[in-house]
Amino acid sequence: MAKSSQDISRFGAKSTIPEEDQSSTAVVLGKKPLDFPEKVNPPKGEKARVISIVNQKGGVGKTTTTINLGASLAELGRRVLLIDFDSQASMTSGLGINQVAIQEQYGSIWHLLNDLNEDVRGTILKTSVPGMDFIRGHYDLAGADSRFASEIAKELMLRKILAPVLSEYDDILIDCSPSLGTLTVNALTASDGVIIPMECEFFAVLGLDLVTKTIEKIVAAINPHLEIYGILATMFDRKTAHSKEVLALIAGQFPALLLDTIIPRTVRFSESTVKGMPITTFASSSAAANSYRRLARELISRGGAN
Ligand SMILES: Nc1ncnc2c1ncn2[C@@H]1O[C@H](COP(=O)(O)OP(=O)(O)OP(=O)(O)O)[C@@H](O)[C@H]1O
Ligand SMILES: [Mg+2]
Repeated sequence: MAKSSQDISRFGAKSTIPEEDQSSTAVVLGKKPLDFPEKVNPPKGEKARVISIVNQKGGVGKTTTTINLGASLAELGRRVLLIDFDSQASMTSGLGINQVAIQEQYGSIWHLLNDLNEDVRGTILKTSVPGMDFIRGHYDLAGADSRFASEIAKELMLRKILAPVLSEYDDILIDCSPSLGTLTVNALTASDGVIIPMECEFFAVLGLDLVTKTIEKIVAAINPHLEIYGILATMFDRKTAHSKEVLALIAGQFPALLLDTIIPRTVRFSESTVKGMPITTFASSSAAANSYRRLARELISRGGAN
């Protein structure tokens, strides 16, 4: 019998949902629970699945999702490459690279965008997670819109950069910036699928239409294969009715897109970022780490990751 989270709630706030079940949309919305087996098949060794983590709204959990989904896929034996495609370079810091190193243009994704003949392999770094590599971001990515405004085929730059390593990875995850500008269009053009993290908060729902419409435009104009793998509810607070209401709202508006896995709100994520580690290493047995592991298994079972 699952232990009730009432026992551990703070400030007298109560939840009637057992803590272990917080990570499932179906359970929170009172539907039949879904099961994603702990044991998954090994990857088929096909060319890498490229997945963009996108939402033009800031602070919704894109970077956190990129790092922790990547680490969870690596735990499942996938060869994973992460790309920091945001000028804030939060992912690069979150993986333990210091501020001085981030200022170096050479060896970053910005450097590759500016020299499309450079071999991407020279910029790939190892993370502390076995099987998970990454490419650094750079603050100058902030100038991408104006830098490439008159560039011919500017949407295709990232696709060209990644082409040589598609056979060397199973999954490539791109951490996008909170905008739908040149960089995000490049990421969507290079991708097979998109995950849209969405904070369980009312105003966040209002922005979802804009992301899905942008994706439709990319599909129509440049990348007909692009699919939305799912909307991921993040920062779910089991102590508030509001989180549950927002979840019900997205389930109503985007029934086919809302992923079953939910990421709980917990300070462990900020703590793990400070330590420069994924939560799967920092707090390996926590519910938060397990929610990202479940996301990895859900994606694989839906055919959204290799
Ligand atoms: N599930 C969560 N529970 C609590 N805090 C979280 C959770 N996910 C992320 N955070 C924290 O929220 C902040 C924003 O998260 P994150 O950087 O992943 O968002 P983002 O969408 O990448 O932001 P930006 O749009 O600025 O790139 C960070 O401090 C992070 O540690
Ligand atoms: Mg980010």
